[in-house]
Amino acid sequence: MKIILCFVIIASVAKTNAEYKNYLGYKLYKAVPTSEDHVNLLLKIQNSGIGEFWTDYYRVGDDVRIMVSPKNEESFLSQLKESKLEAKSIFEDLQQIIDTQNPPANVRNVRSTESFHSMTWDRYYDLEAINTWLDELAAAYPKVVTTVVMGTSVENREIKGIKIDYHPEQTDKKIGFLEGTLHAREWISPATITWIVKEFLTSTDSDVRAFAENLEWHVFPVVNPDGYVYTFTDHRLWRKNRSQANFTTCATNVNDDMSNGVDLNRNFDFVWMTVGASNDPCSNTFAGPSAASEPETRAIQQYMTNLSNHGEIIYYLSFHSYTQLFIVPYSHITTNQVLTANNYANMYEIAIRSAEKVSQRYGTHYRVGISAEVLYPMSGSSFDWVKNHTDAKVSFLIELRDLGEFGFLLPASQIIPNNLEVMDGLIEMDKTTKKLGYYHSRSGSSTILQSVIVVLLGLFVSIVL
Ligand SMILES: *[C@@H]1O[C@H](CO)[C@@H](O)[C@H](O)[C@H]1NC(C)=O
Ligand SMILES: *[C@@H]1O[C@H](CO)[C@@H](O)[C@H](O)[C@H]1NC(C)=O
Ligand SMILES: *[C@@H]1O[C@H](CO)[C@@H](O)[C@H](O)[C@H]1NC(C)=O
Ligand SMILES: *[C@@H]1O[C@H](CO)[C@@H](O)[C@H](O)[C@H]1NC(C)=O
Ligand SMILES: [Zn+2]
Repeated sequence: MKIILCFVIIASVAKTNAEYKNYLGYKLYKAVPTSEDHVNLLLKIQNSGIGEFWTDYYRVGDDVRIMVSPKNEESFLSQLKESKLEAKSIFEDLQQIIDTQNPPANVRNVRSTESFHSMTWDRYYDLEAINTWLDELAAAYPKVVTTVVMGTSVENREIKGIKIDYHPEQTDKKIGFLEGTLHAREWISPATITWIVKEFLTSTDSDVRAFAENLEWHVFPVVNPDGYVYTFTDHRLWRKNRSQANFTTCATNVNDDMSNGVDLNRNFDFVWMTVGASNDPCSNTFAGPSAASEPETRAIQQYMTNLSNHGEIIYYLSFHSYTQLFIVPYSHITTNQVLTANNYANMYEIAIRSAEKVSQRYGTHYRVGISAEVLYPMSGSSFDWVKNHTDAKVSFLIELRDLGEFGFLLPASQIIPNNLEVMDGLIEMDKTTKKLGYYHSRSGSSTILQSVIVVLLGLFVSIVL
C-alpha cells in the first residue's frame, strides 16, 4: 500500500514537471544586426537551436529578440563576439516573467473591478473560461447573441464564437468579423476581443452603439484552440497549431510530442508559400504541407465564403501581438509581385486615422502600412485571403502591444490600457469608414437613444439583482 501510494505521488509529481516547459534561467537578448554577416550568423544560431527567436524574420537594422538557455549561453555569446554583434540581455530569468505575467485569480488587482459576467480584464483567461463566458452571453442576451461553432480542431475542440446581431430582421446585412488567437502565444488577442464584445453589449456611448448595432458581428476570440490550450498546459511560447504534418525532429527540441505545428497565418490559400513563409516544419513560419491544409484555415475560409454570400463584409480584423501595427493588404507585395488592393488608399487612410486616435490616450504609437513596409513580406495570411476572396472593405491585421519589452509576455496589468486605446482606434476606424461612404448608419439617433436606454435599464436591473 505504502509503495503504491509512493508510486502514485512520484508519478504525479513527474507528470507536472514534465508538462510545462520551464524557462528557468533563460535570458532574453536583444540584438540589432548591422550587416548581412550578422543576419546570417543569427540564422545559423536559429537553425542550430542555440537560440529560440521571438522575431520571425529579420533584416539589417531590425530589433531581434532571442531566448537563450543557460546551457547555450556561452556558445551564443562567443559566436556573437566573434562576429562583433552586440546583444543586450533584457530579462535574466524568463520563467519569472512568465510566472508574473498572469496573476492567479485569487490575487486579483482589487482596484480593477471591471468585470462582465464571469470575465475580468486583470488577468488572461484560458479557453474553457472564454467559451463558458460566450455561453453566458448567449443566455443573458438571447435576442442579440447566439453562439456559433465554426469547425472542430483535430484534438476535437470547437472553434467557438458568437454572433451579435441587433437587427436580425434586416436582410441587407453589413458584416464585421473579429478574429483572435490565430497565433497561440499572443494572449492579448483574446483579451482585447472579449473587451470589444463587452463594449458592444454594455456601452452607452453613441459611437460605440452605432458600431455595435449597424453591423452583424461574428466574433471568434480563439480560432486556434489546440494551440492556445497548449500555451497554458505545455509551452507558453507556442505559436503554431498542433499539426503533426511533416513531423520531424528539430534542433530546438520543442517537438518531442510529435507535433511541429503549422503557422496558420501562412497556411491560407492565397499566394501560398510565395514569400515570408517556410517549408521547414521546424520553422515558426512553417506554411504547412499545402495551401489550406489545416482544418482551422479551412473553417475560416468556408465561414467567410458563406458570410460573403449572405451580406457585405465591411470589417475583417485579425488581432495579433506584438509590435503595434495596423497592417493593410496585401502582404506578399514585393518589387516583382505588385498587387495593390483595389481600395488600398482608403484602407490606408482609415488605418492612419485609427492609429492616430489610438495614440491620443496614452501616447502608444502604432505604425501603419503594408506588411513589406512595417514588418516583412509574407504570404498565406488570413486577412489577405479574406480581402482577396470576399473583398471585405476593411481588412486589417492589428499587432497589439507592446514593442518587445515584454512581447508575448505582456503583463496582465496592461490589458485594460491596451483595450481602451484600441477601442478608441476602432471607433475612429468606423467613423472614417462611414465618412468614406462604405456604409451608412441604419439606426437614426432615436433608435440609438432607445438602445442606450435599453442598455442602461439592463445595467440597472443587473445592479438591483
Ligand atoms: C493543426 O494541424 C493538424 C494536422 O494538419 C490538424 O489536423 C489540426 O486540427 C490542427 N490543429 C488544430 C488547432 O486544430
Ligand atoms: C510534407 O508532407 C507532404 C505530404 O503529407 C508532402 O507532400 C510534402 O512534400 C512534405 N513537405 C516537406 C517539406 O517535407
Ligand atoms: C451561412 O451563413 C448564414 C447566414 O449567417 C447562416 O444562417 C448559415 O447557417 C451559414 N451556413 C453555414 C454552412 O455555415
Ligand atoms: C485577388 O487576387 C488576384 C490575383 O491573385 C487578383 O487578380 C484579384 O484582383 C484580387 N481580388 C481582389 C478583390 O483584390
Ligand atoms: Zn501573430
